[in-house]
Amino acid sequence: MGQAPVVYGQSNRPPRGDYSRASADYTCPQNYASYTEADHDTYRRLYERQCALLPGLASQAFIDALPLLGARDRIPRFEEVNERLYQATGWELVGVPGLIPEVPFFTLLANRKFPVTDWIRKPEEFEYIVEPDIFHDLFGHVPLLFNPVFADYVQRYGQGGLKAEGLGACEMLSRLYWYTIEFGLIREPAGLRAYGAGILSSSGELAHSVRSPEPQRLPLQLERTMRTRYKIDTYQQTYFVIDSFEQLFDMTAADFAPIYERLRGLPEFAADERDAVAA
Ligand code: PHE
Ligand code: FE
Repeated sequence: MGQAPVVYGQSNRPPRGDYSRASADYTCPQNYASYTEADHDTYRRLYERQCALLPGLASQAFIDALPLLGARDRIPRFEEVNERLYQATGWELVGVPGLIPEVPFFTLLANRKFPVTDWIRKPEEFEYIVEPDIFHDLFGHVPLLFNPVFADYVQRYGQGGLKAEGLGACEMLSRLYWYTIEFGLIREPAGLRAYGAGILSSSGELAHSVRSPEPQRLPLQLERTMRTRYKIDTYQQTYFVIDSFEQLFDMTAADFAPIYERLRGLPEFAADERDAVAA
């Protein structure tokens, strides 16, 4: 038992989680007894605030599925969510101590297991936390795992990750994750909406991503997206827009190996680099 902690990007702090609790696949049981009343209260307050911001900004599929998380006045138990989630799409939540390395992460997704950090931010981090915590992972990511097409996309991404690992193409692939699963926008009949978890779990970026005239919004295009760098500590300056989850699923059906080959020779786009035609 016990795995090495994981840090992505530059950071001068050690990661928060206790990786000595993790098994070989990096999962750990949700340590429910360790939550204090203050932890449950943080979850309740985050949920309440975020929920009030969703209308007109979050994708309808997300809003419809959110109640399936269950408890909103305390941290939900993963087993409880799993009873409904497994029935809906065959996905299951598994606890993790925090960020985990690429191969175990892709392996879990390929097996329809979604890793959820089991600890919650401190009250003083209410507005912003750098590392994903249970609020981001659960509130942001899990509702759309109830959507069969999106759920299939996430599994396929995990399979694609294992393949990309062997091809040395993880960075290109991770940009697709970033600009879809974390920061994706979708054009719905009622207007532009957010479906990415990084947006849906952020109080400020929700309105910024959908309404602000400032960021660039481009139609999702595989090669443009995989060539675009991203910033993890500011609102995004470029968003990629899809028309439907089916479109996302179909676009990523192709074998990426020749695409990676071609992209290796091409320059990258900066996170804020503008295209002539916006979405
Ligand atoms: N189709 C991609 C490949 O062959 C895998 C993938 C699927 C990547 C979905 C991202 C999202 O590598
Ligand atoms: Fe996330």
